[in-house]
Amino acid sequence: MRNGQLVSAQIGCGKFAYSQDLPNMCEHPDVILKWACDVKKESAQEAKEAFNLEAATDDFLEVMADPEVDFVKVATSHDVHLPIIEAAAKAGKHVFCEKPMAMRDTEAYAIMRAVKRGGIKLCVDLNRRMSPALQSLRKQYLAHRANPKHQPWQYIETVREPLPEERRSQLLIRIQDESSSYGMVHLDPVKGGGLIIGESVHWLDLGCWFFAPQLPVEITAWGSSRLSHGINVLFSGGDNLTLVFSCAGTFCYPKELFEVTTEAALLQSRFFVENNYYGIPGAKDETFKLQDDPYPELGDGFDAYMRKFDRRTQGAGNLKEIENSRPFRVDKGHRNMLNSFVRCILDNTPSPCDEMAGFRSTYLSQLAIQAIHTHQTLPVPIEVVTPNLV
Ligand SMILES: NC(=O)c1ccc[n+]([C@@H]2O[C@H](COP(=O)([O-])OP(=O)(O)OC[C@H]3O[C@@H](n4cnc5c(N)ncnc54)[C@H](O)[C@@H]3O)[C@@H](O)[C@H]2O)c1
Repeated sequence: MRNGQLVSAQIGCGKFAYSQDLPNMCEHPDVILKWACDVKKESAQEAKEAFNLEAATDDFLEVMADPEVDFVKVATSHDVHLPIIEAAAKAGKHVFCEKPMAMRDTEAYAIMRAVKRGGIKLCVDLNRRMSPALQSLRKQYLAHRANPKHQPWQYIETVREPLPEERRSQLLIRIQDESSSYGMVHLDPVKGGGLIIGESVHWLDLGCWFFAPQLPVEITAWGSSRLSHGINVLFSGGDNLTLVFSCAGTFCYPKELFEVTTEAALLQSRFFVENNYYGIPGAKDETFKLQDDPYPELGDGFDAYMRKFDRRTQGAGNLKEIENSRPFRVDKGHRNMLNSFVRCILDNTPSPCDEMAGFRSTYLSQLAIQAIHTHQTLPVPIEVVTPNLV
């Protein structure tokens, strides 16, 4: 701590660090970002200079030896999370770790044990659950579920008690992405593990958070664990998550669409910028601000987002160059997650996305890969998803 502010270190100064961690921590009123650490010394030095930090190193143990550091942000490749978290826990530093927390359940257990032994707080950046749009979607969903209201003109054939499966909710997540943009490391079986472990871990976590306190009980998956795939997760109350991830899509259209159907209603969230509620009398559609918006004059909501996207891609340069020169991002919850993690350290409250969530999403990813490889629907045993490590 320094003058009431938490002192932090960025470990892994690659693309994600530049897009979120480094600017977000530098702008945070309760955080002093002191260190840039990257195994590539020049990357650490560049980040130190770009963000005017105090120190740079290529050895994360140097960060752990600094008594002033309160927490570290880990944004390396996935395969080195465990040694970094073990060292942080030993040194009593809290950890904000990029997703996936681990690549295998065994590695996740070791992380959970280290966190417990070190008495530190760990937060996994499974950030979708912290996006304003999805927080609002869940709130509306819970309110409607608790007290369903129907349109006065709803057509009812026969007044009767609903059949059991009519009470179940269905969360559909559609991802469409352009895989030519992927760095090859994501597809490397050792360092990246493919898109289920690298990306779909986000939406597996989202399903667990959305339907909590239900637990996942069964998983089915199809396609390729490396690229395009689908996953269905059944929850203990009978609700379902279906994720459809296609890599054959385009950047010309937004990547993520969320739709939940429940109790004669459809609640829809369109790429974090607009929520629409159908079948719920009086429910008002909502729009959400972008995290970084170079064109606020074009308004808010999905159509405005499309106009903004068209405007920024006009003219010379490819998308990467445009992105580097003019940040333009929807609010996927990264800043909210950082804020909540900082508060949980300062107030000694539970982590907004703890090691259990990190474990569960890792384990479900692993099971989904297994389900694809064996063409089997697999059970999610209750004793495995609720581990009690001593
Ligand atoms: N939450 C999200 O929405 C989101 C989005 C994108 C990426 N990510 C995550 O961020 C992480 C980084 O992704 P990226 O695209 O920035 O990758 P990247 O390859 O651009 O950056 C990773 C950096 O970590 C460094 N590094 C590797 N091992 C290290 C070690 N032992 N010590 C210090 N530095 C080390 C590398 O040299 C590299 O500079 C991944 O885990 C990815 O899943 C999360």
